[in-house]
Amino acid sequence: MSGRKLIVGGNWKCNGTLEQVKAIVDHLNDAHVPCPNHIEVVIAPPSCYLPILKNTLRSDFNLAAQNCWTGKGGAFTGEISVEMLMNMNVPWVILGHSERRTLLGESDQMVADKVAYALSQGMKVILCCGETLEQREKNETNAVIARQIKAVAEKVQSWGNIVIAYEPIWAIGTGKVATPQQAQETHAAIRAWLSQNVGEAVAQQIRIQYGGSVSAANCKELGSQPDIDGFLVGGASLKPEFVDILNAKI
Ligand code: G3P
Repeated sequence: MSGRKLIVGGNWKCNGTLEQVKAIVDHLNDAHVPCPNHIEVVIAPPSCYLPILKNTLRSDFNLAAQNCWTGKGGAFTGEISVEMLMNMNVPWVILGHSERRTLLGESDQMVADKVAYALSQGMKVILCCGETLEQREKNETNAVIARQIKAVAEKVQSWGNIVIAYEPIWAIGTGKVATPQQAQETHAAIRAWLSQNVGEAVAQQIRIQYGGSVSAANCKELGSQPDIDGFLVGGASLKPEFVDILNAKI
């Protein structure tokens, strides 16, 4: 056993009506999940629903934003500041998701600045990384992920409030989940990079989630891998099967 507490996140992305939010929260609240002893759960709804979940979601589940501004608030139309999230008692934020890197052009440096600022204000960060299919086919996976994590390592001194989410872009929303061997290899490579470039203690303590078409059907085998410490779940987090995933590797 690694001694690292399992952590499973539900990234709702840009989904959900008020009715669906209520139904999902009701299902989560009724679920038997051995929190917080064995597993840490982090739910990331669209930001407009954070106040609702703050008032209705069970207290042993944590809330996350799906993004934040890179500094103090102000004249930044459409952005949400770390201060606002902290004021709402939202302790987590997902940063560097591939959809923001590819669709919105968030660079490694922009992600690193956001991570550094969020940590500096006391937030906990799920830092996403991952490669495209072309990069994997060219055997560039480890180099891509090292570049993404290195950008953060150059701005961050303390890693205790960071969780890394490895999300192969080719597996996100496609149903093409990485094999347990593929995921384990890349998680081990991330841990090795951290050991060599940040320190062995950080490498051993940091939790690394797998994300990319995680489902109730594949989570047990994935979760059995030694360097997979949990999941960052997209589509399935909106479905009742999310509870099965929470109970996959106990
Ligand atoms: O952040 C998690 C997400 O990118 C994975 O999405 O739908 O493949 O589980 P999905």
